[in-house]
Amino acid sequence: MLDLIDIIVAKSIALIEDAKTSADLNDIRVQVLGKNGEYTSVLRGMKDVKPEDKPRMGKLINEGREKIENLIAKREAEFKAVEMALRLKKEAVDVTLDTPQEVGSVHPITSVIQEVVDIFVGLGFTAVEGPEIESDYFNFQLMNIPPDHPARDMQDTFYVSESTLLRTHTSPMQAHTMLSQKPPIRIVVPGKVYRADDDATHSPIFNQIEGLVVDKDISLAHLKGTLDMVAKALFNADTKTRFRPSYFPFTEPSVEVDVSCCMCGGKGCRLCKGTGWLEILGAGVVNPAVLSNCGIDPNEYSGIAFGLGVDRIAMIKYGIPDIRSMYENDVRFLRKYK
Ligand code: DAH
Repeated sequence: MLDLIDIIVAKSIALIEDAKTSADLNDIRVQVLGKNGEYTSVLRGMKDVKPEDKPRMGKLINEGREKIENLIAKREAEFKAVEMALRLKKEAVDVTLDTPQEVGSVHPITSVIQEVVDIFVGLGFTAVEGPEIESDYFNFQLMNIPPDHPARDMQDTFYVSESTLLRTHTSPMQAHTMLSQKPPIRIVVPGKVYRADDDATHSPIFNQIEGLVVDKDISLAHLKGTLDMVAKALFNADTKTRFRPSYFPFTEPSVEVDVSCCMCGGKGCRLCKGTGWLEILGAGVVNPAVLSNCGIDPNEYSGIAFGLGVDRIAMIKYGIPDIRSMYENDVRFLRKYK
């Protein structure tokens, strides 16, 4: 029996040394140590060994088995290392390859929105967004524009149904905000708005930034001070603002706000069509009727509001002649005005 053990161990060592892959090793393991393996059959011979010889024999058998197992494990580790090295080499990705990458850029409209919102956030305003599909009730009625009001003609509306529409301005977010939170309110609302209009200075989709402040003792002076600071931050420190009387149903009094032309400084040029001024927004003191509509007592609180034309500012700042080019997604436009 001892001879048999020696023979099997010697044969196994030769086989293991000859093995070429870990799969070969596995075959050897099964062939020698498996349930019907050669070495396992030696164990069965134990039953014929004399009882006094059993401990010694058992020890030798175990030692032989351990020898084979260790050798297999050692070879297996070697194979694994080689296989891993091969795989790493095969699957390697050369991250150093120098291919020119095109870097995207921010759209002029997004850039103006970010800039304006940042300025207002710096003044303590919160930026909020609202739905583009809006009810007639919020878009018009709560904003003091009843069904037969002539002001509806100022905003050629895309209707979704009789009572639902694509918002024609960001002003309905004034109502959403006043109905859901108590003064003091200081918000700006950037967003897309829609009107059935299409020429070089009008696009059926365009962007506005609405502003609303409601608190005690808020007046036109706050509006003037705030917009003056914002205009200086947005254009340059020498920018002046001018209020012209206007009309909006949701403000009383209402104003149209101009800034001194950022190209000629007010002397008159092509951009400002010789006037020295650029119109950028509508604004006013919130009409008490709008405050009441939205559950705020006009005897206790007052407000100021404004609606700023993002596209117009982008056109002024970037010198873009046609508003529609901003919505065509032509990469040549994006490259030019990045
Ligand atoms: N909603 C107006 C428009 O789209 C702009 C506007 C004017 C908004 C005056 C206001 C405001 O909040 O006070 O033409």
